Amino acid sequence: MSDAFKKLTLESHQLKWKNELPFSLDANDIFFQDEALNEIEHVFIKPNKIKHRSSVEKNLIIGEIGFGFGLNFLSTCQTWIQNSNEGLLTYFSVDHKIASHDEIKKLFKKFNELTDLEITFFDCFEPIHQGINKFFFPQWNVELIIYVGDVLDAISDLDNNFKADAWYLDGFDPKLNNVMWSDPVLDFIQMHSYKNTTISTFTAAGFVRRGLTQRGFEVERKKGFKFKRHHITGRYSKLSKEKNPKKIAIIGSGIAGCSTAYHLAKNGHIVDIFEIESEISSGASGNPLAALYPRFNLNNEPINLLNFLSFYYADRFYKSLDCDGYFVTGIGFKASDERTESWVKKLKALNRKDLFSFSDNQNKSGLKDFKGVIFNHGGYLDPKKINQSLICNENIKIHLCHEFKNFEIGSSDITLRFDDSNQCTYDYLVLAHGSGLINFSSDLSLSKGQLVATKISDSIKMPINSSGYILPAKDGLNWIGASYDNQFENLDVDKDKLKKMIAFQEDQYEVKKKLHQYKSRAQIRTVSKDKLPIAGKYKQNEKIFMLGGLGSRGFCYGPILGDHVASIINESASPLEKNIAQSLLPKNFK
Ligand SMILES: Cc1cc2nc3c(=O)[nH]c(=O)nc-3n(C[C@H](O)[C@H](O)[C@H](O)COP(=O)(O)OP(=O)(O)OC[C@H]3O[C@@H](n4cnc5c(N)ncnc54)[C@H](O)[C@@H]3O)c2cc1C
Ligand SMILES: C[S@@+](CC[C@H](N)C(=O)[O-])C[C@H]1O[C@@H](n2cnc3c(N)ncnc32)[C@H](O)[C@@H]1O
Repeated sequence: MSDAFKKLTLESHQLKWKNELPFSLDANDIFFQDEALNEIEHVFIKPNKIKHRSSVEKNLIIGEIGFGFGLNFLSTCQTWIQNSNEGLLTYFSVDHKIASHDEIKKLFKKFNELTDLEITFFDCFEPIHQGINKFFFPQWNVELIIYVGDVLDAISDLDNNFKADAWYLDGFDPKLNNVMWSDPVLDFIQMHSYKNTTISTFTAAGFVRRGLTQRGFEVERKKGFKFKRHHITGRYSKLSKEKNPKKIAIIGSGIAGCSTAYHLAKNGHIVDIFEIESEISSGASGNPLAALYPRFNLNNEPINLLNFLSFYYADRFYKSLDCDGYFVTGIGFKASDERTESWVKKLKALNRKDLFSFSDNQNKSGLKDFKGVIFNHGGYLDPKKINQSLICNENIKIHLCHEFKNFEIGSSDITLRFDDSNQCTYDYLVLAHGSGLINFSSDLSLSKGQLVATKISDSIKMPINSSGYILPAKDGLNWIGASYDNQFENLDVDKDKLKKMIAFQEDQYEVKKKLHQYKSRAQIRTVSKDKLPIAGKYKQNEKIFMLGGLGSRGFCYGPILGDHVASIINESASPLEKNIAQSLLPKNFK
């Protein structure tokens, strides 16, 4: 597990271009033959029956070793788009070097066939960092997960949960680049295959064929493309995978519950959400507006890695939703103290112009003389709108005014009990009911937080952080957040605290003090002792999960952690690296 600084540093290919095709100087090998798209069709798409599977599978998972320029990915998407029946394609790949947008654009000039896909591809395929990146292509019903890093690091960092329907092995000539075909890689592919998983590759190298056969693949040698005599295809013959939809109960309709429901329903499962109140998102996720907090230190503590991964994940995820509840403005951090100044310096040293801006010549933040860092991604959101759009799926039913009390584990199902002594049974249960989780975990505690809205300035164009945050005006008011109170008796608004929050922002923006009209909201955060959220199996039970303790970053953490929990049930690839996932496991139970 590398640190966040390293994760933001990318390696690039050393390329030479011949006949408008790239040649790798690092590997001393070609990426593609001249008729690359026909070769991809011959070597990967046809043998894996992608056309047929696109039309019959509701949920197709393809794995690839060697993402390169994404040509296999886009050819597969094209087949999927033309043939699929409203299912979800999850494409998983790994590569230590990803071609830049300019390099990919240069290659695409040769292939008019892909023109229709280009705009969507480039819009959604950013930003990139090392480790796991998840990109969403909602127009195509496709999700792309790329592990950026050496294939051997990928194997140790990735979870062992997912099983692919088809594998493309595309890691340069095995004689020149042995590592991509080494035993750990073949073991990894075996572990992520089930009965009927198919496999194909451009090579017919004997040691690859033998390696796959030894691991339970029935391998065939077929005619190769053009100048290549042979290539190999295969089918795994062990372990079957259950693909039946599961019936899942989720407690709580905040960002944790709604994100989990979204990812489960997209994978074809049937989800019932139970909410104690008469409206969804009545807890902390019901705040009028919320900001994304990208603040992470550039070290390898799990919390900083999670903050950084979840921020970029959340930004791509919210953008992919068909909902006008996410405002992509970027986020400013004023360098108002020494600690922030030194952090800003470190971010500058990364030299990632695509991620950060340090001078604000165009007045992007809306503030004159802004000093600090602007994250080019992220922004703020309308939590209820986002949550509503997440659960807008025919596979999700919401049950309001249901107070969940407890559950009982049977031999094959879980029985839930509610306050009105109603009960019902499910295959899986996800406990995601915010403050209610303190009845299940002794690691959690509660903290009261307050927001206040008043008119400070119309010129604020993005969330600006400096000892709390202030958001762009909505209906003429700027929401200011947030106070912290670990000792509290009720959720009554503490007016003195609110006045201090307003006074701080008035000083910052040189607003003349006046008697204000203001609005406010107090709610409860659920916080864990180590400040890390909780996500994973409850008491190591395979069918019960907990997701909570999202503290003051719920809108950063919720989407990636909902996806992580859903991926365990879906047997699909988790967006979290193994070590991070490990550090989030619920531990001390009540
Ligand atoms: C003042 C304040 C400002 C904040 N600002 C930000 C911000 O700008 N950005 C950010 O990312 N985060 C922010 N947060 C944090 C964020 O709001 C939370 O982390 C997040 O909303 C928690 O989501 P959740 O789904 O875990 O819990 P909740 O949103 O609390 O959802 C839990 C749901 O479960 C329901 N429930 C509870 N018990 C039961 C039961 N027994 N049966 C059935 N249902 C039940 C509740 O009614 C609720 O709807 C802020 C928090 C506060 C308090
Ligand atoms: C033939 S190219 C893949 C082409 C790609 N499938 C496409 O459609 O554009 C092989 C890829 O393997 C990657 N690769 C080589 N050695 C690697 C390693 N040790 N770890 C991860 N990726 C590696 C290279 O960076 C290169 O992009």
